[in-house]
Amino acid sequence: MLLKGGIITPIDIGIIGAGWICEMILDSLQKKGKDKFNLTAVCDVNTARLQELKSKYAIDKIYTSADELIKDSKTESIVIATPPFLHFEMGKKALEAGKHLFLEKPGSLTVEQMEELADISSRKGLKATIDYVMRRNPLYIILKKICDAKIFGFPERAYLENYAHDDHLLPSHWFWDYEKSGGIWVEHGVHFFDIVNWLFKMPVKVQAINFVRNGEALIDRVYGFSLHEGNVVISYYHSFTKPEAFEKTSFHFIFDRAYARVDGWIPEKLEVEALLNKEEEEFLTETLLRNSDDYLPGVNIDINCNILAEYKGDSRFFKGKGKFFTASRRVKIEFSLKQDRWEVYKASIFKGIEDLTEAIKDKKESLEVTLEDALNSLKIARDMEKSSIKI
Ligand SMILES: NC(=O)c1ccc[n+]([C@@H]2O[C@H](COP(=O)([O-])OP(=O)(O)OC[C@H]3O[C@@H](n4cnc5c(N)ncnc54)[C@H](O)[C@@H]3O)[C@@H](O)[C@H]2O)c1
Repeated sequence: MLLKGGIITPIDIGIIGAGWICEMILDSLQKKGKDKFNLTAVCDVNTARLQELKSKYAIDKIYTSADELIKDSKTESIVIATPPFLHFEMGKKALEAGKHLFLEKPGSLTVEQMEELADISSRKGLKATIDYVMRRNPLYIILKKICDAKIFGFPERAYLENYAHDDHLLPSHWFWDYEKSGGIWVEHGVHFFDIVNWLFKMPVKVQAINFVRNGEALIDRVYGFSLHEGNVVISYYHSFTKPEAFEKTSFHFIFDRAYARVDGWIPEKLEVEALLNKEEEEFLTETLLRNSDDYLPGVNIDINCNILAEYKGDSRFFKGKGKFFTASRRVKIEFSLKQDRWEVYKASIFKGIEDLTEAIKDKKESLEVTLEDALNSLKIARDMEKSSIKI
C-alpha cells in the first residue's frame, strides 16, 4: 500500500490457485473491491483454467509458477487458494518474501507448520489471516453476542449435522487423499471448530470415529465430540454423501434457557426458542439489530418473533439444574438473511480480505481472525484425527 499525495492507494493482491474458491474471491473483489484492491496476478499450473479466468475477469498478469508470482514486486499481499498440502510451503515462501497473507483453510496440514507461519509473520511484522467465512456471518455474530451477554444462561451442549455434497468429487479428487487434504476434520472441520472456539473456548478432550466408504477405501463420514470447560459437550457429524441440491447443515446450541439452531453451511437462518424476560427479549429483538447492517456490509437481517406462551404471577418461576429463574414469555425468534447464500458467501470472503487490508493499513490493531485462531482449530482437527477409530 502506498500513500500518494495523502491518498491511500488500493492494496495489490495476487492469487495462487485458480480453482473454485479463487473464482468466488474474484467475483467478490470485482463486485465490491475495485477501489480497495488491485488484482496484480493469478497463478495456476493449469494453463487452460488460467486463460479462462484471465478473459473472464480481465486479469493483467498470469503465472504458472507460484515462485514467480511471489517474486512479483507489484504484489503486496498473496491469497493462497491451492489444495491444502501446498498452503504451508507457499505461505512460508510468501511471508519470507515480505508479503502479507490471506490463507485459504486449513492453511497448513500440521500444527507445527501453522506455528511456523504464525511465527514468521509476527517476526517479520506481516499480517496474515485465514478464510473462515462463517465467522463473518451476521447470524453467528448474533449468536456470539448472545453468548457473551449470557442472555440464555450457560451453554450445555451443541451438535452439528453437516450433510455435504460429494457429487463433484471423483475418487481421484485431492479432497479424498489424506496426504493432500488432511482428511475431513482438517480440510473441512476447522471451520466449525473455529466457531466453537470463538463462542466457547478450546475443548479439554476430543474423541472421533472415521467411517470408510464401502469398497472405495476413502473416508466420507466422520463423527466426533469435544468436551469443554463446565462439561459442555459438542458433537460434530460430517458426511460427504449427498447431491449438491440436497445438502443440509444445521448447528444446534442448547443453553439453560434456550434452544438455538443455525441453518445452512453458509448460514441463512438462526432460530431461537427461549424463556425470556422483557429486557432479554428487547436485547434480542432491538439491541442486537441496532447496528446489524454493519455486521456484514451488503447483507441485511430480517426478524420474526412469535410468542408461544405468556407467564404471569407464580407461573413466571421456573427451575432447572436445581436453580430458580423467572421468565415472562416463551418466544420463538427467527433471524434470517435477506440476501441469498452466494451473495452472503462472497460478502464474507470480501470482509476477510478487507479486514486484512485494514490491518495492513494500520486502520485496526488486530485482525478479526488470526493465525492463532487457525492454529487452534487445526489443533482440534488433528486431535480428532489422532483419536479416531477407523471403521
Ligand atoms: N473458505 C471456504 O469457504 C472454502 C471453500 C472451498 C474451498 N476452500 C479451500 O480452498 C482451497 C482450494 O479449494 P478449491 O475448491 O478451489 O480447489 P480446486 O481444486 O478447485 O482449485 C485448486 C487450484 O489449485 C491449482 N494448483 C494445484 N497445484 C498448484 C501449484 N503448484 N501452483 C499453482 N496452482 C496450483 C489447481 O490447478 C486448481 O486450479 C482448499 O484449501 C479448500 O479447502 C475454502
